[in-house]
Amino acid sequence: MDLNLKNRVALVCGASKGIGKACAIALAGEGARTILCARTESLLKEAVKEINDSGGEADYITFDLSNTGSIKNLADRAISIYGRIDILVNNAGGPPAGEDLSFDVSAWEAAFKLTFLSAEELTKHLIPDMIKRKWGRIINLTSVTVKQPINGLMLSNSIRLAVIGWAKTLSQNYAQYGITINNIATGYTLTDRVRQLFKSKAASADKSVDEIIEEIGKTIPIKRMAEPSEIASVVAFLASDRASYVNGATIPVDGGYSVSTL
Ligand SMILES: NC(=O)c1ccc[n+]([C@@H]2O[C@H](COP(=O)([O-])OP(=O)(O)OC[C@H]3O[C@@H](n4cnc5c(N)ncnc54)[C@H](OP(=O)(O)O)[C@@H]3O)[C@@H](O)[C@H]2O)c1
Repeated sequence: MDLNLKNRVALVCGASKGIGKACAIALAGEGARTILCARTESLLKEAVKEINDSGGEADYITFDLSNTGSIKNLADRAISIYGRIDILVNNAGGPPAGEDLSFDVSAWEAAFKLTFLSAEELTKHLIPDMIKRKWGRIINLTSVTVKQPINGLMLSNSIRLAVIGWAKTLSQNYAQYGITINNIATGYTLTDRVRQLFKSKAASADKSVDEIIEEIGKTIPIKRMAEPSEIASVVAFLASDRASYVNGATIPVDGGYSVSTL
């Protein structure tokens, strides 16, 4: 299927590695000029080179998405690179894991800024231009935790649901301008984050991280974790005209892990 993103410009957040990087590669592979955003310049440069060397067109912006007060700045810089943003992929590092009652107010506030406010603020600054052009795609990378909480991920279990409520509300009001807003409920995916999350579990079980990853993989109906590119393929589809009637949806890409029927 040709997703034909040749005349589109995408901004992908959290794109220096993991799922965000895979999304940037997928969108650029479909022809979109793609801007990658994250904090680590060396990784962003590598990712941009990878895309440009394989015939795509990409650039990057270094920005800490926790700086929610400066996000207009990020939006303006992103628009100035290729003249507009048609596709926004909201994504960042996940909030830390921890015991249910272990988070103080500052931990909740930091998680809310990174997981919710970064997406909300960036969308607020980019959507007016999409309205003028009567076309836009906003795709929020969330987590399987919005379908089914995971023990030990209290911040994710809680704050990501705010993203879903926010996105659903926006999707009701902006589809009339050709803008669709959807979420991915990402399941276990083989990235640095997952390796980090399972380090302490591996140490306490006296196993390697790979063994833990394999064990968890076996609990998923598809019997393995996802590759980042498998999440990115769905994002690229949602970003295209082929997905023109998908709006306000939260799509699990989790190998069947979540057991909710809807
Ligand atoms: N992997 C999974 O199994 C899984 C499952 C469900 C949900 N998720 C969620 O999906 C998202 C991506 O996960 P991942 O596995 O791809 O994580 P990852 O490999 O750790 O990548 C996270 C990306 O976000 C960037 N980032 C982190 N904090 C940032 C900040 N303050 N400002 C700007 N960029 C920031 C990182 O780059 P810099 O460090 O360079 O800034 C990196 O590019 C996370 O929210 C995660 O919780 C992941």
